[in-house]
Amino acid sequence: MGGRKLNKLLIKGGRPLDGVVSVSGAKNAALPIMCASLLTADHLALTNVPRLMDVATMAKLLAQMGVLLERSEDCDESGMTLRAENLVDPTAPYDLVRTMRASILVLGPLIARCGRAKVSLPGGCAIGQRPVDQHLKGLVAMGTNISVEHGYIHAETSRLHGARILMDLVTVTGTENLMMAATLAEGTTILENAAREPEVLDLANCLVAMGAKIEGAGTDLIRINGVKKLNGAKYSVMPDRIETGTYLAAAAASRGRIRLTGASPRTLDATLQKLREAGAKVECTPDSISLEMQGRPTAVGVRTAPYPGFATDMQAQFMALDAVASGTSVITENIFENRFMHALELQRLGADIAIQGNTAVVRGVDKLQGATVMATDLRASASLVIAGLVAEGETIIDRIYHLDRGYESLEKKLSALGARVQRLA
Ligand code: UD1
Repeated sequence: MGGRKLNKLLIKGGRPLDGVVSVSGAKNAALPIMCASLLTADHLALTNVPRLMDVATMAKLLAQMGVLLERSEDCDESGMTLRAENLVDPTAPYDLVRTMRASILVLGPLIARCGRAKVSLPGGCAIGQRPVDQHLKGLVAMGTNISVEHGYIHAETSRLHGARILMDLVTVTGTENLMMAATLAEGTTILENAAREPEVLDLANCLVAMGAKIEGAGTDLIRINGVKKLNGAKYSVMPDRIETGTYLAAAAASRGRIRLTGASPRTLDATLQKLREAGAKVECTPDSISLEMQGRPTAVGVRTAPYPGFATDMQAQFMALDAVASGTSVITENIFENRFMHALELQRLGADIAIQGNTAVVRGVDKLQGATVMATDLRASASLVIAGLVAEGETIIDRIYHLDRGYESLEKKLSALGARVQRLA
């Protein structure tokens, strides 16, 4: 990054998105897969790793522990090689965990590989409390002693053993942490009520390539037979389904026509169904999605749920779409307790949204008007970008570092689709 901090995004709205862009590798698959490198002393050679702030933060965290990382210069391949031959310090400090909750994903692999770990408690974040009790409960069942002192999780074990773990609720990183820990445990671990997200399956596929014995990933019952040692592997990270869905929602809201290449349509059923309900014409090949929206979108209600339900990470973007749709929609957020902050900012752009508890009632308006708004979290920022693209006049979004956490080359991709966007100091 370097130089002057360009913290704002200026969007001149009112143009339909039109063109072709390629989808980047999935942030939420790349982060756990990078942590899987902690499980072996060999090289893990990854491709399709997105160039994002969160990936850089994870790289920094792993490097502090002694992982040797190399980023290939070849942008087309987006390669990264990780080697955790000598782990010097199995600690995840507060200053890094605070900026990225996914840092908790080092916990399982560190215990499995080093027998101990010290990881800062993530604490609250803008979208809710997000505790890690399920991660800890599972690790304890596998033979870890855990204490929480001075804001840090201290974990220690002489050897992890397999266990039958029934998770109280569906947790994505919780499932990933326990699955990684179980790969090197003695005996069989069964994870019940496991997350079925495609990113969990992608991590499992990478672990299997490293020599792990895993069955059932992608279902709610995962069975892991522990092995003594994992090897290095080559692995390509899956396409980002949330980035894909964000561009599709933006195209639908702006009444545009786009094609996304390098996508994975089969991971986007719930989103594509809702876009079709909104009136978009959607066509897929195994690795591309085309969308065309003629006329004004129709309001669509969504209820967020664990995969294969409608993703909470797509909720904010659909609120922006509904804000300019014809009709009234009801959006229910079932995963996080405080994930409607974008509604207030969308209102500044002229949206008509009433919030009660975890429900938002969105009455579509004819037009949004540009204004200055503030990004509060990653997906909230994406909804403001969509709103800015369809609003009349100029929208300035402040604090766009949130977007850099999860959207690779956002301005470049939007410009390629004909949008007028520019970073400002
Ligand atoms: C992951 C995704 C995030 C997405 C979320 C839900 C990554 C890096 N991040 O986050 O983008 O929004 O899934 O799809 O993959 N919970 C507990 N106890 C726990 C763990 C979770 O109560 O031990 C609760 C959370 O507070 C939340 C719900 O479970 O209400 C789901 O959270 P979880 O699936 O764990 O989210 P993350 O894995 O943090």
